[in-house]
Amino acid sequence: MVPLIPENAPFSAEQRAWLNGFLAGVLSRGSAPAGASLPAGGTQHQEPLLVLYGSQSGNAEAVAKKIAKRASAGGFSARAASMDTVAASALPAEKNVLVVTSTWGDGDMPDNAQSFWTSINQNGSSPKLKGVRYSVLALGDRNYADTFCLAGRKIDERFAELGAERVVGRADCDVDFEETAEHWSSSALAALGVAPAAKVTEESEEVGWTKKKPFAASLKANNRLTSKDSAKDTRHIVFSLKGSGMVYEVGDALGVYVSNCPEVVDLVINQQGLDAADTELREKLTTQYEIRHLLGKPRGEFSFETLRKLQPRLYSIASSLNAHPEEVHLTIGVVKYEDGGVQHKGVASTFLSERLALNETTGVFIHKANHFRLPTDTDVPIIMVGPGTGIAPFRAFLEEREATRSKGKNWLFFGDQRRASDFLYHEEITAWLQSGHLTRLDTAFSRDQENKVYVQDRMRQSADELKRWIDGGAYFYVCGDAKRMAKDVDAALREIVGESTVEAMRKEGRYCRDVY
Ligand SMILES: Cc1cc2nc3c(=O)[nH]c(=O)nc-3n(C[C@H](O)[C@H](O)[C@H](O)COP(=O)(O)OP(=O)(O)OC[C@H]3O[C@@H](n4cnc5c(N)ncnc54)[C@H](O)[C@@H]3O)c2cc1C
Ligand SMILES: NC(=O)c1ccc[n+]([C@@H]2O[C@H](COP(=O)([O-])OP(=O)(O)OC[C@H]3O[C@@H](n4cnc5c(N)ncnc54)[C@H](OP(=O)(O)O)[C@@H]3O)[C@@H](O)[C@H]2O)c1
Ligand SMILES: Cc1cc2nc3c(=O)[nH]c(=O)nc-3n(C[C@H](O)[C@H](O)[C@H](O)COP(=O)(O)O)c2cc1C
Repeated sequence: MVPLIPENAPFSAEQRAWLNGFLAGVLSRGSAPAGASLPAGGTQHQEPLLVLYGSQSGNAEAVAKKIAKRASAGGFSARAASMDTVAASALPAEKNVLVVTSTWGDGDMPDNAQSFWTSINQNGSSPKLKGVRYSVLALGDRNYADTFCLAGRKIDERFAELGAERVVGRADCDVDFEETAEHWSSSALAALGVAPAAKVTEESEEVGWTKKKPFAASLKANNRLTSKDSAKDTRHIVFSLKGSGMVYEVGDALGVYVSNCPEVVDLVINQQGLDAADTELREKLTTQYEIRHLLGKPRGEFSFETLRKLQPRLYSIASSLNAHPEEVHLTIGVVKYEDGGVQHKGVASTFLSERLALNETTGVFIHKANHFRLPTDTDVPIIMVGPGTGIAPFRAFLEEREATRSKGKNWLFFGDQRRASDFLYHEEITAWLQSGHLTRLDTAFSRDQENKVYVQDRMRQSADELKRWIDGGAYFYVCGDAKRMAKDVDAALREIVGESTVEAMRKEGRYCRDVY
């Protein structure tokens, strides 16, 4: 955003920031918002603010909570709420609504936005939003070209269709969302007449090791879980957290900083005719940018401005701290594929499985997953569906429930290509089954017979029992492939227990998904 109020204007820094945001809002909507006034040391505003979020892995939730905190610290009545906790019928009474949502799956709403989205799209009974002032911040990833920020785009359009007044234009964020989110929230708050505190203290969010300040964890183990004759290479990776004081809960993911393969860097340098002796350029290509799209591209297509920043990758944590103090375990599927005659290696999965040597370190941080937690009541039964690498958090759940002597029953659905080569954590799972800790195990080895068998087929085969567990209060968890498996499992669950039960489970936090 270009500042409109010059630095030498007779305003304090806070007033200048507010005015810039305010004017940006006015310019985008053509008139001043009613009730807006310049902060004179914490102006109060009459209408409360609702910051609605749709979030799968916590980014949009964190942004929404920060905005509400900033507005509250500025003396304003504001609250952040997950979309599935707000009834659409209550929306017209909300006069100031900011929506922050990510897009998930294949251009889908995040799980906690789905029922809200359905409720504002009912023919005839959708709420009329005349008198509601709003703006949308959409979080996404430009790699998903056609579905980039689709959930936010849809909500933005729908609010306008229902008669709400857009006070500032939607902002669409790529993976590095912080700066755009900051600019959007300043202008949106100003346009709504909210004078936020210039900066809220972020100590609580910034304590310990974070994405900005990762811990250098050393690699302690890298073992192949699939056998040599498997079509897949899936690894069990162990990092030491010794000395970090780092704490995670089962369900959380680990963020891992990685670098590009030196051979791929060499190839790009050669193919693009870059200076092979330029060590600074080589370092930048190795550690700072995604370069796989450059492979096979004609010479001369290179410029740093067009490259995307290399992002840390997330992995579901496969261990419990109670079972493995000061360690974090991961289950990593090594990505290798051919595209247009060019061989590609997944950056992070090959970094962790092939390039990081034992005892070498890389930066890690905990990515909280508050939507994916064990029931607090340890007597409650759980059903876990985790084919392939989707098994990761369920190994952690089973370790945790064993360490805490939880009495709740545990039912696991696992699947992969072949029993002989791809039964991940086979020994541990079999031991849990024999000890009775795992109440029930259903496996679906897709390629062990002529026709494919998947986890959802096993669910259907045990539909009555599954329904009994769910009617008895069981939590239902899904982890792994988002594009196909999670959709098919969702369809099977709806078939077995009915749409309304699934929606109720979602609202009660008993249907939890960690899909990617
Ligand atoms: C919350 C969360 C938890 C996760 N947990 C796990 C986990 O427990 N275990 C795990 O292994 N992964 C997990 N992932 C996925 C992980 O973060 C990485 O995305 C994965 O390891 C691939 O990263 P990479 O850097 O190796 O591959 P990248 O270099 O990012 O390459 C992957 C990309 O290559 C392309 N691609 C891949 N295969 C093909 C193909 N056959 N044809 C054409 N293009 C293709 C796709 O665009 C894909 O996005 C998780 C992701 C999230 C968001
Ligand atoms: N977003 C990312 O960057 C990223 C990166 C890596 C992996 N992933 C996803 O994560 C998934 C996990 O990979 P993985 O190798 O551990 O396991 P996977 O590919 O999900 O395979 C595990 C088992 O699921 C089966 N399966 C295939 N389609 C299914 C469906 N529609 N419903 C139910 N089961 C199905 C597979 O069978 P068949 O193979 O025999 O059909 C296999 O037996 C990948 O599929 C991929 O989509 C995403
Ligand atoms: C499995 C998966 C699917 C995604 N699908 C999309 C998509 O279709 N379009 C998009 O713009 N972003 C997509 N994203 C990117 C997320 O929207 C982005 O990471 C966002 O910051 C997540 O915010 P959240 O933690 O609040 O859910 C996807 C991310 C993952 C891991």
